[in-house]
Amino acid sequence: MEKSITSLNPLVDKALKKNPFDFTDDAEGIKSYLNELLLDKNLLLAFELIIYIELKIQVEFEVYKDRFINSLLDIVMQHKINNEQDKIPSFFDNFLLRHMREGDPNALKAYEWFRSIYSSKVNRFKDYQIRSEENCIYSNHPRTNGMSVVLSQGTHGVFTWKDHIVFKSVFDLAIYSMLLEELKPDVIIEIGSGKGGSAVWLADMTKILGLKSQIYSYDINKPDFSYPNVNFIEFDLNNLNDNIDFPENKNWVGSKLIIEDAHENISKVLNKIDSKVGAGDYLIVEDSDGKQKELFNFIKNTKNTYLTDQHYLDLFGRNGTSATNSIFKVV
Ligand SMILES: C[S@@+](CC[C@H](N)C(=O)[O-])C[C@H]1O[C@@H](n2cnc3c(N)ncnc32)[C@H](O)[C@@H]1O
Repeated sequence: MEKSITSLNPLVDKALKKNPFDFTDDAEGIKSYLNELLLDKNLLLAFELIIYIELKIQVEFEVYKDRFINSLLDIVMQHKINNEQDKIPSFFDNFLLRHMREGDPNALKAYEWFRSIYSSKVNRFKDYQIRSEENCIYSNHPRTNGMSVVLSQGTHGVFTWKDHIVFKSVFDLAIYSMLLEELKPDVIIEIGSGKGGSAVWLADMTKILGLKSQIYSYDINKPDFSYPNVNFIEFDLNNLNDNIDFPENKNWVGSKLIIEDAHENISKVLNKIDSKVGAGDYLIVEDSDGKQKELFNFIKNTKNTYLTDQHYLDLFGRNGTSATNSIFKVV
């Protein structure tokens, strides 16, 4: 059925029904309605309005269409800078604004990119398969910038925390810090402890945020130190089977953040996880470029529904994370 937003704003429908669509008479009304939606934080409807107008403007007015749609995107951009960021543009905003002012063809590409990246926030949760088939508008690759992710664990050394080495991308550290605050997990399950630094960092972050999260961190080689709220558990993931489960899994009680970072026996690991998660929990599969086949099979056959969280996946450019298309929310 065709979507109508008449009931929300008769003015928009009235304007669009006019033949020809009259930009001069109706544009200001539509723009002020878009502004109202943005101020009400109704981003979804704001974007639906833009799509609706785009579909409705008749083909013979194609020349004006881009110009008008881009003038609506200008309003969204100004809202982002002025209202969401208290009038302070980011590097990315300035980059886009520079191109938007330069004129074709860079301007059109900048608008297209802004629209695509902002819709990761608006349409936050997306089916894994659909998302996997899409590329970044700028790079035409799954990632905006593969090299920035390659560099993001460190180069002459890796990121350290309290003298522990941590094998996390700086993008992922930022994403985890935001997600922890949002999710407030009761338990964090880390599969692959490494040298233990990531569990220490997670424990400190949850403490700073006033959470009482317990961390269960599994590895075939257990780190040789202890730390408050961290439970290092020695376990070979290859031992998982129908009868053998994660040790201490009975303690995984409450909301969960699960981080798969061992890259071993992935299908069995994910299936065990699937039997233990519920709506609202998060599963992050790190370093997932080489795990997409396993992920595809997993998502197809799971007990739960997992949707990719584009808000975090694309915050630092499309797939600006080690977890390519694999930050999942259980819904
Ligand atoms: C990339 S590291 C984990 C890094 C850590 N999460 C961090 O961010 O610092 C992968 C870990 O998986 C562990 N691992 C590999 N095979 C395993 C297995 N069969 N069972 C359990 N752990 C395994 C390795 O010992 C290694 O410590």
